[in-house]
Amino acid sequence: MHILITGGTGLIGRRLCAALLARGDQITVLSRRPQLVAGICGATAQAISSLDEWTPAMHFDAVINLAGEPIIDARWTEKRRQVLLDSRVGLTRQLVEKIKQASRKPQVLLSGSAIGYYGIDDAQSFTEEASAGNDFSANLCAQWELAADSAKALGLRVVSLRTGLVLDEDGGVLKKMRLPFQLGLGSQLGSGQQWMSWIHRQDYLRALLSILDDTSANGAFNLTAPIAVTNAEFTKTLAKTLHRFALFVAPAFVLRLAMGERSDLLLGGQKVLPQRLLDQHFHFEFPDLSSALANLLNAPNAKSS
Ligand SMILES: NC(=O)c1ccc[n+]([C@@H]2O[C@H](COP(=O)([O-])OP(=O)(O)OC[C@H]3O[C@@H](n4cnc5c(N)ncnc54)[C@H](OP(=O)(O)O)[C@@H]3O)[C@@H](O)[C@H]2O)c1
Repeated sequence: MHILITGGTGLIGRRLCAALLARGDQITVLSRRPQLVAGICGATAQAISSLDEWTPAMHFDAVINLAGEPIIDARWTEKRRQVLLDSRVGLTRQLVEKIKQASRKPQVLLSGSAIGYYGIDDAQSFTEEASAGNDFSANLCAQWELAADSAKALGLRVVSLRTGLVLDEDGGVLKKMRLPFQLGLGSQLGSGQQWMSWIHRQDYLRALLSILDDTSANGAFNLTAPIAVTNAEFTKTLAKTLHRFALFVAPAFVLRLAMGERSDLLLGGQKVLPQRLLDQHFHFEFPDLSSALANLLNAPNAKSS
């Protein structure tokens, strides 16, 4: 298959590119840094820096849309919210417009979303059937999915990847947490009762590839492990894996003061079930957090990845 990927240079994207190239697919990566694509995504990866470079002579069998400005890195000012929206919803709309113009259209669009779709709620658990929440992240995801869904009218199979916290030793939440925990400064966030719906990077990739290949898969898929944990449990398990104590609590009001509304991403959460993957008997290699962290952090007795 020839696959167009946006966000291919990111944490998830670069692993996806490596996996696709390893199984013999051809990839083209849309990137603002095209000169880095071969180095990051693989020597045979092609790069385009604008959708205008998608010429009629180019045919893609699939499009995987993962681009998006990092959501937790900066305070959500009005300007920042617009950047977060434009880099996801705006880009997805442009992508669908481009697909509309293509003489030979791709068969499938897998498009990013997040479990933030369900909003912050620690009281109930969410399967793909649940409706969208009401906060900023939920609205962002809902608009992102809506933009992708418009490709259905063009005859494409469309899947929204409602992604949980992807655990990867090279980036994302785990890399941010590892050093303080190694220094014995790891702390529970606020009450610790908020849910963290996580997934091991390897299960994430296997699930994504199975959705890509399964021509009957469409609609939303929750990409999380089947066993979510509270922040208190996550803190305890990470400290134990690193043979450290986590004795501290980061008070909620301090995080709110320092981060504004985006502290909701740390102080709130949602318990998400990957119901559709479970219904398809998808095999999670790392269903529980202890085995996932042991594997990623090279603890003894870890399964190899
Ligand atoms: N990692 C997670 O735990 C997680 C959880 C839930 C949802 N997600 C979503 O899944 C997607 C991929 O996640 P990730 O962790 O791999 O993200 P990442 O490492 O931050 O990479 C995102 C990629 O998006 C592109 N990008 C960033 N800002 C952009 C902008 N303003 N305009 C156009 N492109 C831009 C960048 O590519 P170039 O610099 O090459 O242009 C970057 O490599 C993201 O949309 C993220 O929101 C991730």
